[in-house]
Amino acid sequence: MASLEDLIPTVNKLQDVMYSSGIDSLDLPILAVVGSQSSGKSSILETLVGRDFLPRGTGIVTRRPLVLQLNNIPSLYNSTTPDSFTAENSNKNGTHKNIGDDLTELSESDIATIHTRESTNSHEEWGEFLHKPGQKFYDFNEIRREIEFETARIAGKNKGISKVPINLKIFSPHVLNLTLVDLPGITKVPIGEQPHDIEKQIKNLILDYVATPNCLILAVTPANVDLVNSESLKLAKEVDPQGKRTIGVVTKLDLMDSGTHALDILLGKVYPLKLGFVGIVNRSQQDIQLNVTVKEALDNEDHYFKRHPIYRTISDKCGTRYLAKLLNKTLMSHIRDKLPDIKTKLNNLITQTEKELNSYGGTALINSKANKAGIILQLINIFAKNFTSSIDGNSMDIN
Ligand code: GDP
Ligand code: NA
Ligand code: MG
Repeated sequence: MASLEDLIPTVNKLQDVMYSSGIDSLDLPILAVVGSQSSGKSSILETLVGRDFLPRGTGIVTRRPLVLQLNNIPSLYNSTTPDSFTAENSNKNGTHKNIGDDLTELSESDIATIHTRESTNSHEEWGEFLHKPGQKFYDFNEIRREIEFETARIAGKNKGISKVPINLKIFSPHVLNLTLVDLPGITKVPIGEQPHDIEKQIKNLILDYVATPNCLILAVTPANVDLVNSESLKLAKEVDPQGKRTIGVVTKLDLMDSGTHALDILLGKVYPLKLGFVGIVNRSQQDIQLNVTVKEALDNEDHYFKRHPIYRTISDKCGTRYLAKLLNKTLMSHIRDKLPDIKTKLNNLITQTEKELNSYGGTALINSKANKAGIILQLINIFAKNFTSSIDGNSMDIN
């Protein structure tokens, strides 16, 4: 019997069929990451994946939507490899560094350990691009290079953005099932050779995703920016005025002026969002330069909240580990709510494609259009069968 956990992978398969065949009429449930440039979007995604794999740089780095499907798979080394989202403290060798500790105190052996861990490409974690079928990327640096290459191929070398998404799947025992889309950062001023209307272009691209009621919005705001000036919350409010499908994320809590804090925001007393706000501390630029790994950053973040004089009262509802669980749960219940709607649309699509196929009549075999429609129909039908059994297996309660 299909369980609630199967819902996200099932919708992912449907998404693949849709992207491959160029159909975008289903508006499948997805989580879009929205925020101004440098607000910490990429950092959050890397922490959710547990690996460094996204391009870095100044200016607009994300110039095509990146649809990221995280797929949880069983570990090859079950008992020995700690899962970064289930183990509270996965640092076993006692070299733990906390945010605020002097990072220059890392010993040479600490740094050697970090480098070894980073360069070991475990075969239980890999990426696959929809545009490179059958190819598994075990080296996450190569994933980064492929994203850069694919971005430049469609959107040009240094300017311009494109609405055509890059589709990347990550398979790992250290992720929770999630489907997210990373979008270009909201920007106010064109940089370098960028077109003068870049702000409008980016906004339209983001709206393409977030305007559909099936999209959950992850609105990222850095804590050192006043909430009323948050570009992401302004944009979210335009399409979700009642704050029903927006999750607020406050990054850079460590960079707030000393003596100030964001407790009231995190408790939902400042800005009304039904799904609430989560506070985050990502790696700083200095952490990245010192090769602090994503996994260490997760532990540092846990400690930050547990030891913080104010946030420790709500530390179990702070940080990226909590965010991952919240997003997984929220996306599942969102998909469950949208299932009847998806089912109807899917049935319409099948009828429509069948009609198209019949219209080609006896020439179907030599007609490549008909061939394509036939293949799509086959895929959807296979899918609809599985999908329907998932829906009807009524173990759909969320605790
Ligand atoms: P994006 O442009 O929204 O994708 O932002 P990035 O994730 O690339 O982050 C921009 C810069 O801010 C990088 O140098 C990060 O290291 C830094 N940064 C992001 N989040 C935090 C945070 O929570 N604390 C600190 N200190 N720095 C952060
Ligand atoms: Na923002
Ligand atoms: Mg980014």
